[in-house]
Amino acid sequence: MTSDKPKKPSDESYRVSTSGDIEVSTYLEIAKEIAGEQPVAAGEAVSGAEREAIVVIDFGSQYSLLILRRIRELQVYCKLVAHDTPWEKIAPLNPKGFILSGGPASVYEPGAPLAPAYVYESRLPVLGICYGMQVLTKQLGGRVEQGTKYEYGHADLCLSHPDSPLFADIPASSPAWMSHADKIEEMPPGFSALAYTENSPVAVMGSNERIFGLQFHPEVAHTPYGKIILKNFVYHICGCQGNWTMSNFISNSLHRIKEQVDDGKVICALSGGVDSSVVATLMYRAIGDQLTCIFVNNGLLRREEAERTLNVFQQNLGMHIIYVDAGAHFLKRLKGVTDPETKRKVIGEEFIKVFEEEAKNLGKIDFLAQGTLYPDVIESTSSVSTASAKIKTHHNVGGLPTKMTFSLIEPLRYLFKDEVRQVGLELGLPEEMVWRQPFPGPGLAIRIIGEVSGEKLELLRGADWILMNEIKKAKLYHQLWQSFAILVDVKSVGVMGDYRTYGYLIAIRAVTSDDAMTADWARLPYNLLARISNRIVNEVHGVNRVVYDITSKPPSTIEWE
Ligand code: XMP
Repeated sequence: MTSDKPKKPSDESYRVSTSGDIEVSTYLEIAKEIAGEQPVAAGEAVSGAEREAIVVIDFGSQYSLLILRRIRELQVYCKLVAHDTPWEKIAPLNPKGFILSGGPASVYEPGAPLAPAYVYESRLPVLGICYGMQVLTKQLGGRVEQGTKYEYGHADLCLSHPDSPLFADIPASSPAWMSHADKIEEMPPGFSALAYTENSPVAVMGSNERIFGLQFHPEVAHTPYGKIILKNFVYHICGCQGNWTMSNFISNSLHRIKEQVDDGKVICALSGGVDSSVVATLMYRAIGDQLTCIFVNNGLLRREEAERTLNVFQQNLGMHIIYVDAGAHFLKRLKGVTDPETKRKVIGEEFIKVFEEEAKNLGKIDFLAQGTLYPDVIESTSSVSTASAKIKTHHNVGGLPTKMTFSLIEPLRYLFKDEVRQVGLELGLPEEMVWRQPFPGPGLAIRIIGEVSGEKLELLRGADWILMNEIKKAKLYHQLWQSFAILVDVKSVGVMGDYRTYGYLIAIRAVTSDDAMTADWARLPYNLLARISNRIVNEVHGVNRVVYDITSKPPSTIEWE
């Protein structure tokens, strides 16, 4: 058993393999060795070390991020890395196991991405998913071939070895979600088939309870027992302890922030959104008055929004906040601007100018704290990048000022949005703030079609206030990704009492979505829509017509501009 302790790759044997130039003979040796080893017992691999991680080697699957989400839901820290990441970057994470993601390539194509040598040489557990299973088959000396049939969607997974630790609490037959054409023709030495489907005699394979391959996707919701398989892998096979909790994250972050900032000065742009609110609160907990928040009110916020944000941070938490009421200034700069992208540009640039001006008055600043999240980091560094045609420039409030010199602190850069929310709740932020629907940086300016004016802003705020109020009363606020009003640049004829009116048109948009990449219009109850419409035309003077937007994204976008 002692020889089973995960070994750090030795310097001589360590090589980073990036593509098809792998020496299969090296791995054949490893495959044979693995087959002869005793399995690693759960818990043995952790040996009291607090830090633990599962490392996902990314081959570009559209589901790579989902794997991460699932593992983190199991309270195990999980990081996605490109397939050519050197061991030096992996070692500090103290990996307990590797997952090889799916991907669009075919292993028999020249130049197909393969796993780095350390995945096998470290002797840590490995789970290959779909393309990842084919990768380990090829690298460990098996054979992958083009399937005659594309297996896509639902399949019945039947266990031939239900006693495998990977299958603890999994029924003998259960649905699994497939998406592959290539298949395992010959398993590597030492592997045996553990489960099959109608089209895949080797739907799951394993070697010595340490290296496994799954032809299906356990990370998707269509594989109902997938999460348990992943749980078995990270706990039973990798021996993880499950210390990735948000309270651990907070205490580690406080420690790291204190260490990094020392006695320096930090500024942070506060917008009232969940990310900047959580960053500000975390920083304040760590360094107190060494933090100054700058809240630029661009005059494009919803009714009472600025007051509520100030109330939470200044009154309740006692934070030092510089509040800049720049509404009139922004309005002046937006005069005559009707093009949506120009609006975004003007607002983004003005924000940075105002922010820099205020920051300058504070003397020397050492750090700027930003609410960058993990998906932003991944998009800029990994092959998961969702490069696509630019539809809109999403200027976030808090964009990096250009002319100032300071270091960045991004305490949330390894968190997903829902983890940020949990951190917010643990830090005692009000639920209303933590569960707030997304609100765009350029605010109401991109919900007023055409030129923005003070009068239009007031009309829109009135309509938006009523809409929010009714949606919350109907207890639908948290079920909707976003719900808001748009002031359309159109006037239409109406009748009120005995009078003809010629008034503005308000559109209501309410959508459901998981990530804003796609969205569907919400099927709001008719009587709720009737109440909203009725209140808006009665209470917002100048509006005489309300319409409901019934388009999904695509082809529309969520915002109208
Ligand atoms: P679209 O309209 O592109 O919106 O379907 C997707 C998500 O992004 C938000 N959005 C923005 N957020 N600055 C932001 O900070 C922007 O300019 C911007 N434009 C759209 C939108 O509210 C939705 O959540």
